[in-house]
Order: sequence, then C-alpha cells, then structure tokens
Amino acid sequence: MGDSKEQRILRHAQQHAKPGDPRSVLEAIDAYCSQKEHAMIVGDQKGQVMDEVVRELSPSLVLELGAYCGYSAIRISRLLPPGGRLITMELNPDFAAITQQMVELAGLQDKVTILVGASQDLIPQLKKKYNVNTLDMVFLDHWKDRYLPDTMLLQECGLLHKGTVLLADNVIIPGTPEYLAYVRGSGSFECTHYSLRREVVDGLEKAVYQGPSGPAQP
Ligand SMILES: C[S@@+](CC[C@H](N)C(=O)[O-])C[C@H]1O[C@@H](n2cnc3c(N)ncnc32)[C@H](O)[C@@H]1O
Repeated sequence: MGDSKEQRILRHAQQHAKPGDPRSVLEAIDAYCSQKEHAMIVGDQKGQVMDEVVRELSPSLVLELGAYCGYSAIRISRLLPPGGRLITMELNPDFAAITQQMVELAGLQDKVTILVGASQDLIPQLKKKYNVNTLDMVFLDHWKDRYLPDTMLLQECGLLHKGTVLLADNVIIPGTPEYLAYVRGSGSFECTHYSLRREVVDGLEKAVYQGPSGPAQP
C-alpha cells in the first residue's frame, strides 16, 4: 500500500504537533505544505482573513464545503464560541478519514461533524437528518463549479438567515465568475472582496445574506 500525500501531511502533523493544541496542528500542516509538498489547503495568509471573519461573527453553526485534510475545519472550529459547531462536507472518503484524525489530533472532535458525500446531496438533508435550522456562516472551498448551484440550493432549502456570511475561497484563481456575478448582482447579498497575493493574486469573497428580496429600503 503506497501512502498518499494526504497521509504524509497527517503523519507529519502527528509527529510535530502537540495533541489537543489546534495552533500547533495548523503550524505543522502549514510547514509541511510550504516546505515539502504543495497541497490545496487555504493556508495561513488567507487563514488570517478567515480568522478575522469568524472572530467578528462568532457563529454558532458553520457549514464548510470541502474539508480535504481538515486544515480549514480546525482553523474555523478553534474560534467558535462555547457550544459552537462546524459541519464539514467532503466528497472523498479517504480525505474525510484524514480530516477526522486531524480534528481529533487538534482535540476539536466535539465541535466538528464530518459528512461524507457530495454537497448537493447532503445540503437538502441538513434540516431533517442533521437537525439544522439555519446556518450562521458557510465556507465555500470545494470544486468551483459548485459554488453557485450550492448557494442557490442553500437558499432554496431555507438554510440562510439575514446576516448569514458566505465566505468563498479562490474566487479569482481558479475563479468563480458566475458565483461572483450572482452574489454581487442579486440584491440579496452585501459583498466584500479580500484580495491576496502569494504566487498569484487570488481572493476571498465575503457575501452577507440580506434576505430573499434584498436590502431593506429606507
Ligand atoms: C480545496 S480542497 C478543500 C481545502 C480545505 N477547505 C482546507 O483549506 O483545508 C477541496 C475539497 O473539496 C472536496 N469536494 C469537491 N467537490 C465536493 C462536493 N461537491 N461536495 C463535497 N466535497 C467536495 C474535494 O474532494 C476536496 O477535498
């Protein structure tokens, strides 16, 4: 059995992080992915923007689309208020298993629920099967062609409330033009763009849901 890059990331974290210390787990993943093997994690630079958004909102319930190895799940869940919960959806069962172990290493297993499957199948089950009323925040970081249909699905399923924050990664590179046009143009969201440069210029888009008919008229 050959081991995968994701297993090597997990092993590195297990060897270098302090169990129960989310910060040390994040640092170990960041170090491995910047020095040894590049991986599709949100990383520390964008992670700091995420931290700011989560700290300001203090959400009780967050949905993440795309867990991969659990880096952003740890990043978000470590900042949740007491009783706060993160549900993360991951299509690939091997990545979901890595995420589970990474979250346990960070000691955050009581705050994080990992659902294995495709977001488009799982989102409609959130209310009945997972006892969700509405979400305070959604982090979109799965395949880019799903950003727009899944946002519409979240709306159709009644999972957003006024003030729900959608935070979307990689809206410039690889880019999500249809999603950006929708949230910026629909009148239902108030948008802020965070532009970041590492090798390339990319960005995070924060879209705050205003309700189905757009902002209240004065
Ligand atoms: C960019 S990675 C996520 C990185 C992670 N958020 C982080 O920063 O640590 C994208 C992940 O989304 C998953 N994915 C893609 N499409 C999905 C879908 N429709 N539902 C659930 N997961 C999906 C992929 O398997 C992959 O693990």
